[in-house]
Amino acid sequence: MPSISKITVLGSGIMGHGIAQVSAMAGYSVTLRDIDASLLDKALEKVKWSLNKLVEKQKLTQIEAEKIFHRITPEINLEMSLKDADLLIEAVPENLELKRKVYADVDKFAEEKTMYASNTSTLPITEMAALTHRPERFIGLHFFNPPQLMRLVEVIPGRNTNQYTIDTVLDFVMQVGKEPVLCRKDIAGFIVNRIFIPLVHEAAYSLEADGVSMTQIDSAVKYKMGFPMGIFELADYTGLDVVFKATSEMFSRDKRIVKPHPKIEELVDAQYLGQKSGRGFYEYSGSTFQRIDLTPEEAAKYNPIRLVAVSANNAAWLISNNVCTREDLDKALRLGMGLKTDLFNTAEKFGMQNIVEKLREMAAKYGSRYEPDVYLENYKNG
Ligand code: 3HC
Repeated sequence: MPSISKITVLGSGIMGHGIAQVSAMAGYSVTLRDIDASLLDKALEKVKWSLNKLVEKQKLTQIEAEKIFHRITPEINLEMSLKDADLLIEAVPENLELKRKVYADVDKFAEEKTMYASNTSTLPITEMAALTHRPERFIGLHFFNPPQLMRLVEVIPGRNTNQYTIDTVLDFVMQVGKEPVLCRKDIAGFIVNRIFIPLVHEAAYSLEADGVSMTQIDSAVKYKMGFPMGIFELADYTGLDVVFKATSEMFSRDKRIVKPHPKIEELVDAQYLGQKSGRGFYEYSGSTFQRIDLTPEEAAKYNPIRLVAVSANNAAWLISNNVCTREDLDKALRLGMGLKTDLFNTAEKFGMQNIVEKLREMAAKYGSRYEPDVYLENYKNG
């Protein structure tokens, strides 16, 4: 197995700083690069906060935490940041024009041995690889928020990615204590976002159509669908700008994946970006980790069958189209979104026939994107 010792992470935002931290925790030497010292200072503060939490919870000793922190070198100069890098992980904002510029610069300075991995959540890997001089050594490496706690990494080869790159990156994922799931097709949203993003919009439609409250929907998502958080809560936690961008990218590539609800765009336009800006769907008192109060009593007031139906249908599409196996799907949702119950097991509780009927009813009312997938129509319980 090729040996990787030096990692360069480009972009120090929510994902970049977390990926830098988990790499340092696995013993890698990491350079964290961003365009401005104040961004890097903020990122290192977040790493410190997270390491302190892990010390508090006795997952690390104080001495280990200090060693990990010192394995991360902040850097503004791109050329310096790429020196001796075995693996570059790009986590800059999800804008193809920006990525085009970043990769053009990276290509000027990266050493021959450096492999490129992008933490993009929705941009096609093959398209991004084509922006570089080394498409055969370019791969998608999609971590989940917060990278420090979520154990999944989706690995997405592009059309030209070679086996050596796939093997090296799969090994890296395991070295950092994460579980890889291979996404067999380079499709918009890969596996998890194909479930997560449409669910946010469907919940927004339900809010309107079913005359219920956000906490009733969120409580039902938590207590009846096995999610660790409500879906509005999760969208706020992820960042509504991130959700909106992922929506737009997915929608621009395939209109059937998601039906954008205008509320998300309105919130983003008003700069209500979720927990990080103090307001999103909900209001928050600070910008660090905060939970919404959800209860089984509130959950009892809402039947989330349309949310289960839409999620199961999107999951079914992934399996029917050979993007992943049912086993990988369950693993991805368990480790990437913290699901406590496998999605199809939840759907079984609602009755697969009821789910299929609900989808047919929605297709008749709202359009063909809700037509049930053949996998659900032929589904056998257990
Ligand atoms: N580092 C260390 N500790 C952290 C942390 C971090 N980065 N972030 C939060 N924590 C701490 C919290 O402060 C809290 O500590 P406390 O007990 O001292 O208050 C603890 O971890 C979490 O405990 P809670 O009981 O409050 O919360 P949970 O048990 O529910 O765990 C969670 C939190 C792991 C975030 C869980 O709720 C979860 O799995 N949520 C779903 C997250 C998810 O779906 N992520 C994927 C989003 S999609 C995505 O990222 C893709 C992108 O492309 C859009």
